[in-house]
Amino acid sequence: MSKTIGIVTSGGDAPGMNAAIRAVTRVAHSNGLQVIGFERGWDGLLTNSYRKLTPRSVGGIIQLGGTILHTLRCPAFEEPGGVETGAETLHANNVDGLVVIGGDGSFRGALELSKQSGVPMMGIPATIDNDVFGTDETIGFDTAVNTAVGAIDKIRDTAISHERIFIVEVMGRKRGFLALEVGICVGAEVILIPEKPLDTCDVIKIMEENSKKGKRAGIIVAAEGIGDTSKLAWEMQRQTESEIRLSILGYAQRGGSPTARSRLLASLFAEKAVELLCEGRGNLAIGLQNGVIKSTELEKAAKTTKPLDLRLLKVAEMLAI
Ligand code: F6P
Repeated sequence: MSKTIGIVTSGGDAPGMNAAIRAVTRVAHSNGLQVIGFERGWDGLLTNSYRKLTPRSVGGIIQLGGTILHTLRCPAFEEPGGVETGAETLHANNVDGLVVIGGDGSFRGALELSKQSGVPMMGIPATIDNDVFGTDETIGFDTAVNTAVGAIDKIRDTAISHERIFIVEVMGRKRGFLALEVGICVGAEVILIPEKPLDTCDVIKIMEENSKKGKRAGIIVAAEGIGDTSKLAWEMQRQTESEIRLSILGYAQRGGSPTARSRLLASLFAEKAVELLCEGRGNLAIGLQNGVIKSTELEKAAKTTKPLDLRLLKVAEMLAI
């Protein structure tokens, strides 16, 4: 009987997850493996809900945002008995390896499941936050950057026309990867990230200096992780004579057709994941490291904080004079 690998997409969706599902399925079939896809993240393992994936059933999805397998944040999986049920599901379906597509929280779930079941896990990092250790870039990050840049370019038109300052809040959970890259790409006057907090007074000072230099409009890109941006907007409005507006980009950043780069990363990560499973390896996370597809111990990827290159903030400051 041929071996079976399972796929699960877990946590927040990210553009390119479907490209990864497609590629895992097709590479696995090319290697003589069967594939099943669990539905709705870890919930699929709690309820034994899955579908068979074939090269044909994953046709026409490479360009789709979201995940055809659906996903959810599944606290029940972390409750007593959750991981045990998941392990039983894997055994009942003779799953020989599980590919987990998601962020570090999903990787932590995979580790627990592997300890309980003995089934080898392969993590494929997919999140718009780009906050997973062991990879320079996660699936979906490039798409989210481009989505946010497109939106902020439009906001810039209004900022210039009305000579206003806009605070634009982008996602990123507790980290500033998305805000930093987006900020550089839109030419933000200020980038606010949790890794290098600025006081409201500092932000006002920068904007006042800009005004003296003749810059009457401005874009402040703020990571959601810095805290309450509406309070910041209100406080800036109160302390200055400028018109301050806040725009929260929100979930639009998570959806949409994946960029070519997100699709490519998804395809290459998936190929590596299946290759390693075929070699009998397990409990690894795939990643891009200095342009090369590599793997890291899943435990390390799940538990290490990814460093953010703060030199980029300096570059952004120089570019904003
Ligand atoms: O991890 C992706 C992300 O969109 C974060 O940027 C954000 O903080 C979070 O998910 C929102 O989570 P939820 O979908 O549970 O509201």
